[in-house]
Amino acid sequence: MLNSKIEFVLNNKLVSIKDLDTNTTVLNYLRNEKNLTGTKEGCASGDCGACTAVIGELKKNKIEYRSINTCITFLYTLNGKQLVTVENLGNGSLHPVQKAMVESDGSQCGFCTPGIVMSMFCMYENKVKPTNENIDKYLSGNLCRCTGYIPIKNSIKNMYNYKRSNSNQKNILTLLKKIKRNNIMIENNESRFFIHYNLKGLIEDYQKNKNSYLLVGGTDLALEVTKKRNNLKNIFYIGSNKELNFIKIKNKKIHIGSATPISDIMPKLQKIYPTFSKMFERYGSEQIRNSASLGGNLGSASPIGDSLPVLIALNSQIVIQGKKQRTVLLDDYFISYRKTKLKNSEFIKEIIIPINKENVLKCYKISKRIDDDISSVFMAINANVKNNTFKSIKIVCGGMAEIPKIAKLTQKYLLNRKFNEENINKAKNIIAQEFNPIDDMRASKEYRKKISQNLLERFLHEQNKINTDIY
Ligand SMILES: Cc1cc2nc3c(=O)[nH]c(=O)nc-3n(C[C@H](O)[C@H](O)[C@H](O)COP(=O)(O)OP(=O)(O)OC[C@H]3O[C@@H](n4cnc5c(N)ncnc54)[C@H](O)[C@@H]3O)c2cc1C
Ligand code: FES
Ligand code: FES
Repeated sequence: MLNSKIEFVLNNKLVSIKDLDTNTTVLNYLRNEKNLTGTKEGCASGDCGACTAVIGELKKNKIEYRSINTCITFLYTLNGKQLVTVENLGNGSLHPVQKAMVESDGSQCGFCTPGIVMSMFCMYENKVKPTNENIDKYLSGNLCRCTGYIPIKNSIKNMYNYKRSNSNQKNILTLLKKIKRNNIMIENNESRFFIHYNLKGLIEDYQKNKNSYLLVGGTDLALEVTKKRNNLKNIFYIGSNKELNFIKIKNKKIHIGSATPISDIMPKLQKIYPTFSKMFERYGSEQIRNSASLGGNLGSASPIGDSLPVLIALNSQIVIQGKKQRTVLLDDYFISYRKTKLKNSEFIKEIIIPINKENVLKCYKISKRIDDDISSVFMAINANVKNNTFKSIKIVCGGMAEIPKIAKLTQKYLLNRKFNEENINKAKNIIAQEFNPIDDMRASKEYRKKISQNLLERFLHEQNKINTDIY
């Protein structure tokens, strides 16, 4: 029997919901149902951060805080969590981050301020050091159009000078522990929203409801609602499913549950594939990384999905779950533009990445902005170079074709050849012939070709220790 309501803590109070439309976003709920209008709407697509609020989740008897974009988060995903909004930060008085914003003149236009304050709150409560690097990371999803970041950054540097007057974390912990984590189905106007905490229930119900939408972070899917105005009938939320939420090392392989947020994957990848982990620093923004998953990136199957060329280059496999399980090499997963081998009643259970410490892995993302931008071109190179000769090499490009594509001719040319300027120059000619990219708003066809050539050259210079550590 499935539960038919969700429960979560809205600031300090336990609330229960079952009657609202299954496509309702957290932002619309706050503003339209609760009159909590401190959370603003700028873009409704996860790009500006005006709608930032914070999710508190129970982790080992503590509350862990993450910033999210409420405009693209579905309300019913909140079961078992705390939602903190700007109205309630200081529990009756100003929170230290708000005091710091006042004292350091950080509040400017006022429209972006609540979202910025929420990102700061997340830093403060998670006790993150206010280094320049951390500040940039935490603010990566908060756009200030007046470009007055300096007073905002100063506020962050000063925020630990102020002490929080009171905290009711103990009460919140008690409330969060009370909430049941049983499987749920909300039904409203012939639309349904399922939440599964275990895999068995998910497999059974998903088989019975063909043509449903799987949902993890919603950083792609929610745009169907907020931008295209579609009504998604059956949604299966798997972001809270523990059996799809893990990262572990077994037999020289990394196993990642398909619903694991990118923010959780990054620190674990750091030691094994530091360039892969570093690449994720440029994956959307902090808010996006806190919600987005690899399952979602693979499910969307966009030719400019950033994890895809890297996963292919690393010879990764995916475990596909239908009635039965099958494992597929990612090389064979993409068929044509956003079409994959995934059948209607199947979903991705986990991603398996071989660990090969002898190889060099490079992940090059080229986009117009550093933060919160989609790639124009992406290149991943996984090579084994011995005695200055390519013993193995895999080159995979994003943004160069309708799917993330292996540069088969280029890598065939380089295999067993010397890693030198002459051969890289020949490879540059081949890669420009091998791909026929399109012109679009992000880049022209010629630019894309040129970039793919330049990235091969950059690879050579990096190998020759010429510093190209700009990205
Ligand atoms: C502001 C912004 C910035 C972004 N920046 C980047 C970026 O820099 N790089 C990048 O690559 N992407 C970017 N994206 C796109 C998006 O964040 C990623 O594709 C992300 O990984 C999607 O994950 P999700 O969990 O949010 O997926 P969701 O939106 O929940 O789902 C996406 C699709 O995948 C399907 N799906 C989800 N899980 C599974 C599963 N386990 N099996 C099969 N299908 C599944 C869903 O049904 C849906 O069709 C950005 C998006 C936004 C809004
Ligand atoms: S309103 Fe712009 S990120 Fe949500
Ligand atoms: S703070 Fe809003 S535009 Fe700068």
